[in-house]
This record gives sequence, structure tokens and C-alpha cells, in this order.
Amino acid sequence: MAHDLPLRLGVNIDHVATVRNARGGRTPDPVRAAKLAERAGADGITAHLREDRRHISDADIAGLTEALGVPLNLEMAATDEMQAVALRHTPHAVCLVPEKREERTTEGGLDVAHEEAKLAAFIDPLRTAGARVSLFVAADPVQIEAADRVGAQVVELHTGAYCDAHAEGRPEDRDAEFAALREMAAYAHSLGLEVHAGHGLDYETVMPVAALPEVRELNIGHFLIGEAIFQGLEGAIAEMRRLMAAARAAEEHSQP
Ligand code: PXP
Repeated sequence: MAHDLPLRLGVNIDHVATVRNARGGRTPDPVRAAKLAERAGADGITAHLREDRRHISDADIAGLTEALGVPLNLEMAATDEMQAVALRHTPHAVCLVPEKREERTTEGGLDVAHEEAKLAAFIDPLRTAGARVSLFVAADPVQIEAADRVGAQVVELHTGAYCDAHAEGRPEDRDAEFAALREMAAYAHSLGLEVHAGHGLDYETVMPVAALPEVRELNIGHFLIGEAIFQGLEGAIAEMRRLMAAARAAEEHSQP
């Protein structure tokens, strides 16, 4: 049964590197943060190596690969350069995301449907090397079906529009976005894809998403790293895990 599946927390440590890079030195060290997150109960660590290296660096990826006891999920664009990085380090998982130089963060999902042949060829060597390949997509059946066809094992549903609608006080939009996430989590699961979700999640938005029975993993970064200023990273991760577990338990009890 889908609702018996455990829910993992992947902690994205990109913004530890953002703070480090603001001064160009060595601190705070994202590898140290990742080890702390691991001790605090993260099931995995996520890092996005961007083309412009604005936060995570190549050395960080090497350091994470070396130091981590939990799986590394490498987020990256589908470029030849990034494929070479992934094949050099063979992380547990690779999450392909769209990337635009001028964006502040990953703004939308991948347009898998328009790049099927390219993505299928891109994914094949990653899978052969042993990485689990995930595609970051909007809650859109066209993209989910395409993700299945190109050989992805996982889809990560983009929760940004749901979180933005909540933060901006647009409850009807938030509910519509959430309904799409719920429907598409079930649809992707029915196709045999593993379902992850992330982007913009915080203490206020995490519970409904965590309660979706098909979702196996949440990837959360910006809010946790910001909250670490106030609560410490361990405290922030513990609170996020508590909310996830509470949402999951409530969901299980609601099953017939
Ligand atoms: N998942 C994916 C695919 C992302 O690109 C990001 C942002 O790097 C996240 C999750 C985490 O988003 P946030 O930092 O807003 O929690």
C-alpha cells in the first residue's frame, strides 16, 4: 500500500555555500553542515552544482562524496559538463533540473516532453553507472508521462507554486496547486515512478505534502538553512522531521 511507504528527508545544503561564497573564504563549510545534518537525522543530502557555481563548487561535490555516510543527490542541468561530473563521482542519485543563468532559483520544472530524445540519451549512461535518475517536473501529466518514457526512475514534483501561493496569501491558488500535486503524485506512482517533492517547503507548507501517501522523499533547503540561524541546524531538521512524521501518522490513521 502506498501509505505504508516511509518518507525520507533530503537536506539541501546549497545555501551554506551561498553564505560562504558571500565572503569568498572557506566558512561556513557545506560539507561540515552536511555531516551535521546527517547526524541530525537527514536521510540524504542534496546539492545543486550550477553552471555558474554560485553556491556549491566542484570541490564541495568531491568533499561530499568522500565524507557522507548517507546518499548524495546531485542536482544539475542536463549538460555535457554536468554529465561528466556525475559520471566522475557517481552519486546515489542525480536530479535533473532546468537552469537559467539569470534566475534566482530553479523556477519551473523540466520540459521533458520537448526534449525526450535528448534526455533519454543523457539519462542512459547515468543509469548504467548506477545513479538513480530523477526529473524535477511540474505537476503536469504530460511531463510525468514523458519522464517515464525517457527512463527516469523518479520524478520530483515542484512544490514552488503551491508554496508561493501560500506565502502570498492566495488560498484558492494554493489549494488548486495542492490538488494538482496530490493527483500527480498518485498518477506518477501508478506509472511505477518513485515520487519525490520539493522547493520552497517550510514548517507551514510541509504537512499536506508529507501526508501524500505516494511521496517517498522531500528535498528541503533554503528554509532549513535560514531557520538554522534561529534554531540551529539540528533543531530545524528535528522540527521538520517531527512535522513530517505527524503528517504521515495522521494520514495513515485516515486510511480505511
Ligand atoms: N528540489 C529541487 C529539484 C530544487 O532545485 C531545490 C532548490 O535547489 C529544492 C528541492 C529545494 O528547494 P528549497 O531550497 O526552496 O527548499
